Amino acid sequence: MRKKFICGNWKMNKTAKEAEEFARNLLEEDLGDKDILIAPTFTSLYPLKELFKAKVKLSAQNLAAYDDGAYTGEVSARIVKEFCDYVIIGHSERRNIFLEDDEIIRKKIKKALENNLKIILCLGEDKETRKSGGAYDFVKNQILTDLKDFEFNKDNLTLAYEPIWAIGSGEVCNREDAQKMCAFIRETLGSLFGDLKDEIRILYGGSVKGENAKDLLECPDIDGALVGGASLKADEFLKIINYKEK
Ligand code: PGA
Repeated sequence: MRKKFICGNWKMNKTAKEAEEFARNLLEEDLGDKDILIAPTFTSLYPLKELFKAKVKLSAQNLAAYDDGAYTGEVSARIVKEFCDYVIIGHSERRNIFLEDDEIIRKKIKKALENNLKIILCLGEDKETRKSGGAYDFVKNQILTDLKDFEFNKDNLTLAYEPIWAIGSGEVCNREDAQKMCAFIRETLGSLFGDLKDEIRILYGGSVKGENAKDLLECPDIDGALVGGASLKADEFLKIINYKEK
């Protein structure tokens, strides 16, 4: 049984003070035993760790492809590990704005694994690729290229299918297409890792909100959500966390 995993990716938003306020609001609610994760900016990891304790997991949004050393402006996996157990790698904004290619992504995965960080690897095609019918080949290629020859267990790898055209656009992928792609991702994982494919969690990301969460999260191969915009307000994020009760 794969436990649902609701993750908030704050991107470049919130001061540490604002992050603390969010945390206090979230913790006022009964979060039960759900797997909830927040990926704040680096500067909010420490205060959030103090407040969340074990109740909400924390993730970095990025890490350096190098060990500690002379890399001005970078944050290594070893340094990140002091504050959190997870790291998002390969988000489309990193791939597209910061030109991170598969070689860099593989280096980051290697550093994360060496430092016992759990990885949330993002995948997803752009609009033209979807329109031309190439989405499945594109995502398959990302999985095989980024993950081949690494060893994972069910806890240290989560995949997030995030079609680029659905990110921040309000244009959510319909549940049939999202489920179909997540099932395809699981099959592709099978070709690399065998039966482990059934234990690895696959998230959907891209314009997830309180109103569409139930639809998506009830799909058999969608094990959670990676939420950007709607994770910035505690009450909206709670609607996604509590999608079942809606
Ligand atoms: P969005 O972002 O929910 O604002 O579309 C999702 C993401 O980029 O992870």
